[in-house]
Amino acid sequence: MGVSLLLLVGFLTCPTVLLSAPTTSASKLKYLLEPPVYAEVVARRGENATLPCILKSKPDHYKVKWTKLEPGRVGPENLVIISNEHAFKRHGRLGPRASLRRAHNMDASLRLGPLRLRDGGRYRCELINDIEDESVVVTLRIEGVVFPYQSPKGRYRMNFREAEAACEEQDGVLATYEELYRAWTEGLDWCKAGWLQDGSVRYPIISPRPACGAQTGPGIRSYSPKDKDVDRFDAFCFTSLTAGSVFYIPGAFSLEEAGRACGRRAAELALVGQLYAAWRFRGYDRCDGGWLSDGSVRFPIGTPRGRCGGIPEPGVRSFGFPNQTSHLYGVYCYR
Ligand SMILES: *[C@@H]1O[C@H](CO)[C@@H](O)[C@H](O)[C@H]1NC(C)=O
Ligand SMILES: *[C@@H]1O[C@H](CO)[C@@H](O)[C@H](O)[C@H]1NC(C)=O
Repeated sequence: MGVSLLLLVGFLTCPTVLLSAPTTSASKLKYLLEPPVYAEVVARRGENATLPCILKSKPDHYKVKWTKLEPGRVGPENLVIISNEHAFKRHGRLGPRASLRRAHNMDASLRLGPLRLRDGGRYRCELINDIEDESVVVTLRIEGVVFPYQSPKGRYRMNFREAEAACEEQDGVLATYEELYRAWTEGLDWCKAGWLQDGSVRYPIISPRPACGAQTGPGIRSYSPKDKDVDRFDAFCFTSLTAGSVFYIPGAFSLEEAGRACGRRAAELALVGQLYAAWRFRGYDRCDGGWLSDGSVRFPIGTPRGRCGGIPEPGVRSFGFPNQTSHLYGVYCYR
């Protein structure tokens, strides 16, 4: 787990200190993005994170309440933990994975883990005392990788629910707009539109070209609102670190034989998300097309070279969904 940028530790004696973006400088940049400056804790799936909340002075009687802020949520707030000086009580969906760090007697920091893909967001630490009520907000970001996903049936075949299910089947979740935006800043250029978590349909373009809406500069292209049941697109999925690892078995397998080859090594055909996670977090680089569990054939490239697909950027390359009886490929397994 790392703490990115300057982690501003808010003191509870100040009236509501929000750990959010300081106002950007008055000068408007012409060629570069305004730097996103905000305090956040960054961690990967499976890791533990600590969200800081430190008392500057202690009232006689108080409680500390941690809540996950979920804009648009209907119903009661998403309480995580409530504590007094001596004990704490866990609540809700996150409670079982939450505790207070209590590194010292002024420490009300929240420990959360093992983290899941959707734990990212804004968390409020609130000090409740007889007269005052103060809070700080800390952002938790799950570090991950966004991957475009097309149905084995072809381009633009999934409504929103199907896109959601497809990401889950590949060890991911539908990406949020923020996750897609970050992936775009990191180099994702993809000329096919996909569903995002909020039901919007977008795609990220770095090099504008006629086929991808060339009239505007680089950026995230957005479609007008779409009908979640009727309209069909691809998906942008988000995943993060995996507990196991991906390995390759060379060979000339059909898809069925590929599955058996993994089975003999006490492994399973890798999911698309698992291959992306290995590429992104373990530097997995292999210039051989291999079957994955959805019937696609892909390979991960960390250091681009001429004879490995010829694309100058690192990435996971795809041969699409070849005939499953063709004996041309090795296999990527996960264990
Ligand atoms: C997370 O915390 C738990 C409980 O303290 C610990 O057992 C586990 O090893 C930690 N996991 C990681 C990845 O640090
Ligand atoms: C896959 O290849 C086999 C053998 O060449 C052929 O019989 C079959 O029709 C092909 N399947 C599809 C879906 O193209």
